[in-house]
Amino acid sequence: MGQDRIKQLLGQAAAEAIKPLLTPETYIGVGTGSTANYFIDALSDLKLHFAGAVASSIVSAERLQAQQIQVVSLNESGPLGVYVDGADEIDPSFSMTKGGGGALTREKIVASAAAHFICIADQTKWVKRLGQFPLPIEVIPMSRSTVARQLVALGGTPVLRENFLTDNGNEILDVHDLEIDDPAALEAALNHLPGIVTNGLFALRPADQLLMDVDGQIQTYRVGQR
Ligand code: 5RP
Repeated sequence: MGQDRIKQLLGQAAAEAIKPLLTPETYIGVGTGSTANYFIDALSDLKLHFAGAVASSIVSAERLQAQQIQVVSLNESGPLGVYVDGADEIDPSFSMTKGGGGALTREKIVASAAAHFICIADQTKWVKRLGQFPLPIEVIPMSRSTVARQLVALGGTPVLRENFLTDNGNEILDVHDLEIDDPAALEAALNHLPGIVTNGLFALRPADQLLMDVDGQIQTYRVGQR
């Protein structure tokens, strides 16, 4: 089965999984990326069962609106019932590397407001240890060089993502070669470097549930079950 078809099945399975969490007052958080896009497409059958969505990127907001799903800001929505998003890597503690699509800051904000985080990831994203995928870090442009030097001191090799600005008008450094022994500790340490807006480690608030394909079937896992 092709990768796109698996991502589509993941999106459909996530729409099914959130059904019990929905009320007419519920706002949901929606991620960004090719897997999240399939989730948005699958929401069209459910749109009468929840109040609306908060999007983690402009591109996801536009895709939701194209489905006639109401998109509101996080300030308007209040707490979210659930957040659904993909990942670039996910480990057995359901810590993730995210930001391959550059939406990491809004993704982390929207995820933080959700009662429940469902990660939808095909099995190429499953890793025993995070760090094969370069860690995306969103930086305020004036801080790029000083942040890069500090990342080199931590053992990383930062590479500026060329011709790319985030929805927030910032730049991304993709950091290779980092040894990620303790994802939560590294996430917290990076949060303290001036100039870094967000780092792509999602370990302090990992996913609660993982939907992943096994032999073409979508399985659902809680931490410790995979
Ligand atoms: C975007 C993300 C995505 O969730 C991540 O890159 C996975 O994308 P895809 O579903 O296209 O493989 O973090 O910033």
